[in-house]
Amino acid sequence: MISKTTSFVRHVAIIMDGNGRWAEKRGLPRSAGHREGAKALARTVEACLDLNIPVLSLFCFSTENWTRPQDEIDALFGLLREALDKNFKELSDKGVRLRFAGDMTSFPEDIRRKADTFLEKTKDNSKMQVVLALNYGGRDDIVRAAKKMANQVVDGILSLDEITRENFGKFLYLPDIPEPDLLIRTSGERRISNFWLWQAAYTELYFTPVLWPDFSKRDLQDALDDFAARRRRFGGI
Ligand code: FPP
Repeated sequence: MISKTTSFVRHVAIIMDGNGRWAEKRGLPRSAGHREGAKALARTVEACLDLNIPVLSLFCFSTENWTRPQDEIDALFGLLREALDKNFKELSDKGVRLRFAGDMTSFPEDIRRKADTFLEKTKDNSKMQVVLALNYGGRDDIVRAAKKMANQVVDGILSLDEITRENFGKFLYLPDIPEPDLLIRTSGERRISNFWLWQAAYTELYFTPVLWPDFSKRDLQDALDDFAARRRRFGGI
C-alpha cells in the first residue's frame, strides 16, 4: 500500500538517466531505451497526479545533448512528437498544465507548433504542472537571465541596486514555479549535469541505481519517503 503523505513536496525534478544502458543490456538500439523511457515518463506523471505533487519537472533534452548522433536526436524528437500528440492530450484532460523550460527555437517547426498549442490549451489547468526541460541547461538559463537583466539596466528600466538575488530569479525560465524540493537522478550517476542550477541551491538530492525505463511508482515513493525523513535547514541551524 503506497501512502499519500507527500503534500508538502511542491516540486519534484527528475534527471531521467539510463535509457541507453537499459537498451544495451538487452542488445537493443539506444532508441528502444528512449522509447521505454517515454513510457516511464508517462507513468511517472500519472504517479505524481495520484500523489498530489503540484510540479514535476523532467530533463528531456539538455543543451549538451546536441553532441549525440543525429539518429538518436531524431529518435528523441520523434518520441516528443508522439508524446505531444498522444499522452499529453489525455493528461491535459486530467488537469495537467504543460510548461517548457529551455530554448526550443532550434527544434523542428512542427514540434514547436505542437508545444505552443499544448501550452495554450492547458494554461488554465491547475491540478498539476509538468515541466519538460527541452534544450535546457542551468548555465544557459543563468546567462540568459543575466543578459535580460543587463538589457533592462542599459534601457534604464532597472537600476544596478535592483540586481538582487530575489530579482535575478525572476529572469530565469518559469520564475513562478517553486524551486525543486527534491531532485531524483536514476541510473546510479551522482551529478546534477547542468539541470536547475540556480533553482537547486537548496534542493534535496536523491540518487537511485534504477535505470529510467524501469522507474516505477514504488521507486518514486521510496524517493519521497527518503525526502520526508530529511531535515531541511536552508543554511540555518
Ligand atoms: C538519458 O539517458 C536520457 C535522455 C538524454 C533523454 C530523456 C528522454 C526520455 C526519457 C524519453 C523521451 C521523451 C520525451 C518526451 C522527449 P541516456 O541516453 O544518457 O542513457 P545512458 O546514460 O544509459 O546512455
